[in-house]
Amino acid sequence: MDNKLSAKIDEIRNHADIVDIISRHINVTKKGKNYVAICPFHNDTNPSLSINKDKQIFKCFVCNEAGNVFSFIHKYKNIPYMNAVKEVADMVGIEFKLNDSKPTKVVNKKIQVLYDIIKDATLFYKNNLFTSQSALLYCQNRNLTNDIINNFNIGFSSDQYRVIKFLQAKGYLKEDIYRSGIALDNNGELIDRFANRLIFPISDLNGNIVAFSGRIIEKSDMAKYVNSPETEIFVKGNTLYNYYNALPSIKKNKKMYICEGYMDCIALNKIGFNNTIALMGTAFTKEHLKVLKFLGVEIVLVLDGDNPGNINASKLANELLLLQIDVKVIPSYKDVKDVDEFLKKYGDKALVEHLKTSEMNSFDFDFYLAKKTNLLDNYEDKKKFLNKMCERIAKMDIVDADNYIEKIHQELGFSTTLINSLVSNFKSSKKENVINEVKKYQKLTKYQTLQIRILSQMMDSKEAIEIFVENLVFLENESYRKIALMISDYYNEHKDDFNIDYLVADLYTKVSTEYGEDNDMKNTLFYIDQAKNDYPSYSKESFKDLIYEMSEISPLEAKLEKIQEELKYASDKAEINNYILEAIAIKQLIKEKKEKKKNKN
Ligand code: UTP
Ligand code: MN
Repeated sequence: MDNKLSAKIDEIRNHADIVDIISRHINVTKKGKNYVAICPFHNDTNPSLSINKDKQIFKCFVCNEAGNVFSFIHKYKNIPYMNAVKEVADMVGIEFKLNDSKPTKVVNKKIQVLYDIIKDATLFYKNNLFTSQSALLYCQNRNLTNDIINNFNIGFSSDQYRVIKFLQAKGYLKEDIYRSGIALDNNGELIDRFANRLIFPISDLNGNIVAFSGRIIEKSDMAKYVNSPETEIFVKGNTLYNYYNALPSIKKNKKMYICEGYMDCIALNKIGFNNTIALMGTAFTKEHLKVLKFLGVEIVLVLDGDNPGNINASKLANELLLLQIDVKVIPSYKDVKDVDEFLKKYGDKALVEHLKTSEMNSFDFDFYLAKKTNLLDNYEDKKKFLNKMCERIAKMDIVDADNYIEKIHQELGFSTTLINSLVSNFKSSKKENVINEVKKYQKLTKYQTLQIRILSQMMDSKEAIEIFVENLVFLENESYRKIALMISDYYNEHKDDFNIDYLVADLYTKVSTEYGEDNDMKNTLFYIDQAKNDYPSYSKESFKDLIYEMSEISPLEAKLEKIQEELKYASDKAEINNYILEAIAIKQLIKEKKEKKKNKN
């Protein structure tokens, strides 16, 4: 690198504040002398990225990613290092030309022209709006004041040709105008796809206008909104309407409102909720979720009040929850379809009041929604809803879970015992699913099988029970343990008149009377009983082997299993190393125990 270049880079670095630059991309909070953020370079849940303002560096204490302001942008945006320098230079207002690598320059120029076209078109449309009576009237009807028009760069396209002519007069090539997404190709002639529409410019996450959406202003059969197609600079799944403008307010309030439409987003801005963005379309993409996750703020969904809007809110809230993003939902209000209508019909005071007082967490929202849509009217529906909610409770922490189990009990009338057992079913099935996925299930099956084989031999032989009781064997699985206890109880009570058939009958009776509602125990017992046919029948030698396996080896294997499970969720390198070391030690121990037993035999 020549001296001039490195002096220039130093100058840019001296003018850039790393806290400020990083804050433009992710949510940064002050913590003591330093600043912290959710690390965007690994799957972070707690803020583990630390930014040192004095030294102008960042470091993640979990994934070890570290560097200066340029390396942050370079890694975060996944762009070449010198392009990152250029971006930072732009942000701090220092002129810096990327001319040391030709290919970059060519690509940039090709792309830059698209930004330029869109920017010029935006100004053209905006000026055009102020000369169109019908467009101004429409704005008046929808309470779009001059301030709003200016802040959101709203414009109007009065016909198919003007903007194209304007751009061509400015010297833009036909092919570039087409590439910008503004124009449709009409037999070789370009026409404005937004003709006769009010124009909402759409910015990318960095605040560059990259696309438009046009709304018809007169009654028509045509689509209400027409949007730019995806272009080299407009990737719909990466874009959130008004994100860049809302960012300062989002960070200040640590909260972000998401609504469905442009007009709803604007309505919230009218009442001072500047921390609002709009989804364009209805689903979150992976990119959106990534952005929301890194922001690290609370998300409030203010979607449309109609049925699809409500269903979507419930779905999106759950998606966010799974990513451990704090999410609230604002339920719909009286007879209005969306926020914009709300504001128009009931005024700003009522809207502010509604937003401030009716936030619901996603669980309460689902409850509210089920009631509202009459999904709790009959027993079958209630049962369906119960199942759905129990599945969600299974994922909650235990305090919240307890809270919601009580709520379901109160509102739907199911017993807390039943709700609890459904929840734990989901817990275990979730665990099994996870394990299944990574083909770890085999080991768990082995462990369960072992317990089943022990129990089934105990249901076959008095001697097996004696050995079991003598060795004080502990079975890991709760329902197996309960059955083992019933067998040894029977044995203790009937030492003199022991009869294996009576034992089995006694077990079935006990299970039915004691676990009446709980079919699971009955199934388990039946399964164990059946297992007699699937494995070699009782012999003292083989039973002792099973017991050894159960009490000496299985606990270690279970521990190993647990570590492997933990490893899947561990992100800290030191933590991972510890787990691996522990796993190696346990594997060694298991090997030794197996050998010891072989030698004994
Ligand atoms: P809505 O149909 O709810 O429109 O679509 P809206 O926001 O209430 O619009 P107004 O108040 O009638 O002007 C919600 C969002 O879905 C997208 C737009 O982003 C819109 O803001 N949409 C809707 C389209 O892209 N195309 C359409 O034809 C309709
Ligand atoms: Mn609307």
